[in-house]
Amino acid sequence: STYRLVANRKEVRIGLPEVRLGILPGWGGSTRLPRTIGIAEALDLILTGKTVSARRAWKLGLADALLPDARFLDEVRSFALAHLDRRGGEEPARPDFKELLLERNPLGRKILFDQARKKTLEQTRGQYPAPLRAIEVVRVGIEDGPRAGFDAEARAVAELATSRTAKNLLHVFKLTEEAKKEKGLPGGEPRPVASVAVLGAGVMGGGIAQLVAAEAGIPVRMKDVDEKALASGMAHAAQVFDRALRRRRIERPEVKRRMSLILPTLSYAGFERVDLVIEAIVEKLPVKQQVFAETASHTAERTVLASNTSSLSIAAIGATTPHPERVAGMHFFNPVHRMPLVEVIAPEGADPAAVNTVFAFARRLGKTPVLVRDTPGFLVNRLLMFYSTEALWLLDEGHRIEDLDRAMTDWGMPLGPMALTDEVGIDVAVKVAHILRDAFGQRLPLPPWLDRLSLEGRLGTKSGSGFYRYDGRERKDPDPAVYGLLGLEPKIDRPDTARLADRMVLPMVNEAARCLDEKVVASPADLDLALILGTGFPPFRGGLCRWADHQGLPTLVAAL
Ligand code: NAI
Repeated sequence: STYRLVANRKEVRIGLPEVRLGILPGWGGSTRLPRTIGIAEALDLILTGKTVSARRAWKLGLADALLPDARFLDEVRSFALAHLDRRGGEEPARPDFKELLLERNPLGRKILFDQARKKTLEQTRGQYPAPLRAIEVVRVGIEDGPRAGFDAEARAVAELATSRTAKNLLHVFKLTEEAKKEKGLPGGEPRPVASVAVLGAGVMGGGIAQLVAAEAGIPVRMKDVDEKALASGMAHAAQVFDRALRRRRIERPEVKRRMSLILPTLSYAGFERVDLVIEAIVEKLPVKQQVFAETASHTAERTVLASNTSSLSIAAIGATTPHPERVAGMHFFNPVHRMPLVEVIAPEGADPAAVNTVFAFARRLGKTPVLVRDTPGFLVNRLLMFYSTEALWLLDEGHRIEDLDRAMTDWGMPLGPMALTDEVGIDVAVKVAHILRDAFGQRLPLPPWLDRLSLEGRLGTKSGSGFYRYDGRERKDPDPAVYGLLGLEPKIDRPDTARLADRMVLPMVNEAARCLDEKVVASPADLDLALILGTGFPPFRGGLCRWADHQGLPTLVAAL
């Protein structure tokens, strides 16, 4: 007999990740897994490429035993000895999943496969061929037997592996792997970070403090000027832990221990022992400058001061501190625990050791850091601004909110531009638009009615109304009142959505070329990766620059 034994260790994750590369498990996995753990559970793993913990793998029947990590080899030996006698004997008792009513009869199985197909189509919008093909392969393996299953697997893998989608996904995988080797600026080793302070306990500050406690496991002071803000920052951190608890990513005593690492405070007491300060207070330059000067006077000279600003110049923020060379940007994306990108901003004259401390710490937090120059909007927000502003101009031309969003979600973006603006906050988006307009001039023309929505108190998701109506945080229908408020008339029916998508994607391509020219990031690879990790730009397209390369320069220029 063959047995699979797993060590009960946090790092152990088990799954079949092939669909993430645009193929499917083709070395027996698609055929054997459903026979081992049942069709429904197998499809859940195969179609998503997700991984499960050692304990979950054991519960699913993927492993025959869950052994303590500390004595793993001894335990394996005992297990082997105990099972030697049963050589060629029966398999260890497993719950018999195949006995499940649904999976045993052909009609039940048909329902199961139909549901899987429907759900997969909803989630992939038909953009990812591999999961759909996997459902078919699993079906063949169950209905026609293992030999037919193996044969179907081999054929499917051969066909999928040569598709553009698979090549793009493999390309993105390589980008991610290569990014892991990046170390930041040349000429400075990162300093050790054993204690952190976060300034501001708002949406971002609370999220960052939680992340430091959860991922780095070191003490983190969270300072605000408002006691209520501190309480809500702590509540926010607790909420994120709670979600991880419910998903069994962490256990209760550990949550307690990690939460106790977060120290809410109104004062700078203890700041002299802090190695890294991450500022996430209000987006106002004079306030940030004052706070940086204060912080510099309460910290040691080696302490690195980082700002999470999304639109202000890092050099300007640091200008009031006695040692501006230790100031860098550490730009997280919202929601902090979910978005994998951190833009690390190195202003002119920054100490490479300070920048690399931020870079290394971002990685320790489980994020992918990308080095970005200190230019307006940095990289991701700058590109996004050209995309969402074009959407506003399309609205101005008479297009409908839902048509613009659908054009982009069909294209593969997780959110359309209007829904995204609602999420970001219309007031925030408008403010950043003005800042970038001031920086880029006529290259970023803004519609004349831009300020009107936020002046009416329509701030997007957080205020319960924006381009859409909301029920709590849940997005409902587009709000037709928006057109009247802006003096617009939606008059274009059934637009060509592929053309609409081009209109919105191409300005980003154009601006991406400028960013590369200005060395905002080091390479098209960095640009593509940052956009994928910071905005959910569709990985199956391989990245913005790669997509542009596939179109070809003559096509792009003509379309622009
Ligand atoms: P927020 O308004 O939710 O929180 C700001 C917090 O800073 C408030 O609790 C306020 O009491 C506190 N504060 C104000 N002055 C302070 C001072 N002198 N010392 C200590 N705390 C002070 O703001 P949010 O959204 O968390 O943004 C914070 C920063 O993060 C801004 O620079 C923003 O541009 C940036 N950012 C925001 C993102 C977002 O999606 N909300 C995304 C990425 C960056």
